[in-house]
Amino acid sequence: MSANKEAWGSRVGLILAMAGNAVGLGNFLRFPVQAVQNGGGAFIIPYLVCFLLMGIPLLWIEWTMGRFGGKQGNHSTPFILDSMGKLRFWKYFGVFGIFTNVAVAAYYCYIESWTLSYVFHSVFDTFSGMNQGQVADFFNNYLKIGKSTTGIPYEAAVFYILCLLLNTYILSRGLKGVEKAAKIGVPLLLIFGAFLAFRGLTLGTSGASAANPDASAWDGLNFLWTPQFDSLSNPTVWLAAAGQMFFTLSVGMGTIHCYASYLKSKDDIALNAVSAGFMNEFVEVVLGSLIVVPIAAGYLGIDWVKENAGFGMAFQTMPYLFDQWGAYISNIAGVFWFGLLFFAGITSSLAMGTPWMGFMQDEYNFNRKKAAWTFGAVIAFFGLPTVLVYQVMENGVVDQVLFNEYDYWAGTMSLVVFALAEAVLFAWIFGIKRGWHELLSGADIKVPSFFKGIMLTITPLLLIIVFLGSLFLPEGGDWAVAISGLFDGQGWTLDNGSIIQMLQNSGIKAQIAAATDANVIARLERKIVLVNIARLLLSTLFVGLSALVYIAYKKRRRNALQTASV
Ligand code: ALA
Repeated sequence: MSANKEAWGSRVGLILAMAGNAVGLGNFLRFPVQAVQNGGGAFIIPYLVCFLLMGIPLLWIEWTMGRFGGKQGNHSTPFILDSMGKLRFWKYFGVFGIFTNVAVAAYYCYIESWTLSYVFHSVFDTFSGMNQGQVADFFNNYLKIGKSTTGIPYEAAVFYILCLLLNTYILSRGLKGVEKAAKIGVPLLLIFGAFLAFRGLTLGTSGASAANPDASAWDGLNFLWTPQFDSLSNPTVWLAAAGQMFFTLSVGMGTIHCYASYLKSKDDIALNAVSAGFMNEFVEVVLGSLIVVPIAAGYLGIDWVKENAGFGMAFQTMPYLFDQWGAYISNIAGVFWFGLLFFAGITSSLAMGTPWMGFMQDEYNFNRKKAAWTFGAVIAFFGLPTVLVYQVMENGVVDQVLFNEYDYWAGTMSLVVFALAEAVLFAWIFGIKRGWHELLSGADIKVPSFFKGIMLTITPLLLIIVFLGSLFLPEGGDWAVAISGLFDGQGWTLDNGSIIQMLQNSGIKAQIAAATDANVIARLERKIVLVNIARLLLSTLFVGLSALVYIAYKKRRRNALQTASV
């Protein structure tokens, strides 16, 4: 039995920590981009359906598994899964619940560190008077050589390490530290978000310039909020909605299991899970859609937003737009925006540290400090390459090859694979009857019984569809053409973004085949090497963690045999 006896200080602290785990950069950076790229209002219905049929059931499943595991002294997924299924293999599936967190934290802390740095730049007025292109260039330079000429992005590296130290220090204070960070960070980010959303809403057409006379913040809102039912038949939109659901709720990661494992055996999980889940959805759907898109649409027009929607918008465009609000208010807006992102980010990255800590404390008797500082060291090892290794494309833009590779395999695919495995384990192996009973024990709400059927059939089925859909994504995401091609004897042409093609680097190879410039070809060839290095790092991490689980398992068996023979 683990000597780890930590527990949450209060229910409010727990819900804020769980909400802080879910509310993250995904709510403010990923959601608006996904929504815009998938047709605005066309995205909302599949997204909400995914929340109901996958998000909520998975939240309940993970909270239940976590509390169940915690009762037996298990605070990370390898041995939580092991205690629920008889096959030895489950504990190795549980490795995903630590792997994903380490790999995601490695690059997530990098984004978090940009927000920290941009808070400083907003305070010190760096962006004042810059035009749109200069603000965009500033970000691009930040990612590459910065102010040096040696190829090391010094400022980015310094802020990354600072951010990592801060995360590690808070983690070393244990659950108390996490709870305190959530109690400060979540309310502050809501206040900052409300201020910016209010500004977004009241911007109206005031930002329209001669270059964009028709621009209106309302265009952005209308675009996001006018439901379009035709999207229901588009699998690509469904895949994007499901992917966003996983990322934003932090399901399929292992963090929720870990947090829930510190509950007491009769603590409610049914109401707590939906409270944290709905809080996340409020922040994502309401606040997340009231800031970047309307403000950008208000100044640059909705067509600009549709063409340029991307992750960088938050860093490359927002400081310029805030600057249009005048002296001081632009600094305040910058501090609020990047401060909001920082708090959203850190409350999520702290959660990513806890599965590793729980595992090392349970299995290797690490104390809190040692568990936290080893986590920091592991993140530095896997994360620094995402900061230091990048390519500069011919147009001067940075291609963060390792970062993107981590995001695809750990931040996207691993979540789906692990969620599928745990949904099957919970409903079909552990048994829906037992699982349901666990969920209801201590529940402060009546859980509608139709969710039992949903957990048993629809959730696993949807997860299988999402996984197969990603594996066999057809060319251009055009499923109708692909399916009719099958019947016409033309076979199935895979998209370069499908898992199968990604594994073979088909997209980069196609670019090489199309390129004529020797420098471009050489860069793309180097890109393949970098992609493979990223995969090697990720595989090493997975194998290393599996070895730790194997050793822990042997240790447990030895101890059990010794106890039995006494
Ligand atoms: N759920 C976290 C986010 O949305 C990981 O960023």
